Amino acid sequence: MSKDFRETELAGHRLSEETLMLGYGYDPALSEGSVKQPVFLTSTFCFPSADAGREFFDIVSGRSKTARNDADGGLVYSRFNHPNAQIVEERLAIYEGADAGAVFSSGMAAIATAVLAHCSPGDAILYSQPLYGGTDSLFKKVLSRFGVTALPLADATDGAAMRRDGEAARAKGRVAMIFLETPSNPLASLCDIRLAAEVATDIGRAQGHRPLVAVDNTLLGPVFQSAIRAGADLSLYSLTKYVGGHSDLVAGAVLGKREAVAPIRMLRALLGGNLDPNSCWMLARSLETVALRMRRASDNAVRVAEFLASHPKVKAVHFPTMAKPGSAQAQIYARQCTGPGSLMSFDVGDRASAFRVLDRLKIVKLAVSLGGTESLICHPATTVHSGVAEAERLAIGVTEGLVRLSVGIEHVDDLIADFRQALA
Ligand SMILES: Cc1ncc(COP(=O)(O)O)c(C=O)c1O
Repeated sequence: MSKDFRETELAGHRLSEETLMLGYGYDPALSEGSVKQPVFLTSTFCFPSADAGREFFDIVSGRSKTARNDADGGLVYSRFNHPNAQIVEERLAIYEGADAGAVFSSGMAAIATAVLAHCSPGDAILYSQPLYGGTDSLFKKVLSRFGVTALPLADATDGAAMRRDGEAARAKGRVAMIFLETPSNPLASLCDIRLAAEVATDIGRAQGHRPLVAVDNTLLGPVFQSAIRAGADLSLYSLTKYVGGHSDLVAGAVLGKREAVAPIRMLRALLGGNLDPNSCWMLARSLETVALRMRRASDNAVRVAEFLASHPKVKAVHFPTMAKPGSAQAQIYARQCTGPGSLMSFDVGDRASAFRVLDRLKIVKLAVSLGGTESLICHPATTVHSGVAEAERLAIGVTEGLVRLSVGIEHVDDLIADFRQALA
């Protein structure tokens, strides 16, 4: 293995992502032999010569026609690039099977910048339902002000339905993007990424411009689902969740093909959404344990979901392992995912019952967000999805009795004991 840990193979043996997360993209020789990378607390970088400065600027501003990506140039200024961001971008890209990556100051900064970089006035964008409340508000309340029409997909598991929605969208404008959130927040329902890529190709043939398939991979990536390997052009993350994993930072990322990521990096530099060095350092530390944490949380979640499904006061449990055998959801799960993750929702009938359960839990914490080491629970209709109009909320299944649960890495027997007493 080379000292700078850049090799992905060892004598013909392909190294696993779990091993690569411990050092890929960092050369200790460049930092006094320090085993761990320092936090590069600097706003700007010295150029080796005036001509190098000119060249680096040509690259980060996109004027250079020879550079493949602004990350290929030298370090310039921490709003454009910095070593701690580059390490996280390279490690996430290698985990996801992407060519390039860009980190952001939040998941919403990543999503908004990706959409704005690829959509122009007059375009249409198709999206799966339900979406995280922030993305939903961005699409419905903000994009229209920039002349972009956002249209829902009736069923992101059915090719014929997606093609019909694609035709309807083409009547409104050039379709620039198909945006999927899979699994969805809060229902953990799955979309078919491969099918969306096929539909994008068909739309591209008809309109002369292939829409990008962008997938919010926050709930299962990078451990249980690679959106890029499944056929997406862009994989988007709230790193605040499982990748950060300790409920102590806010961050986001875009991963994908180089040509799809390049305009997003360019816009990131102009909007100023790059992530700070300290948060990047914390993310690099978190990536070392992301597989361990996600696997333990997922094993716990399978047991908790089984307990909830067997409880007489629980009307329904929404979680990938609970899909009816042979259903579209079960088939997509088997083909697209290697584990169910740990985000689920369950229905206890009405708001009063939901609030009673939330108020009685002792170990599970009552807070929004998900993907941390500790279990978190919330009532989507009055918190994270309160911005979605009531009729629409009900139509997509976000009912008053629905509770969203992110299972953490506690001992599973303690979690089940907590739910048993709260539901009693
Ligand atoms: C699926 C999903 N995508 C995106 C976001 C937004 O991420 P952030 O809060 O890091 O901006 C969230 C936040 O809850 C989310 O759950």
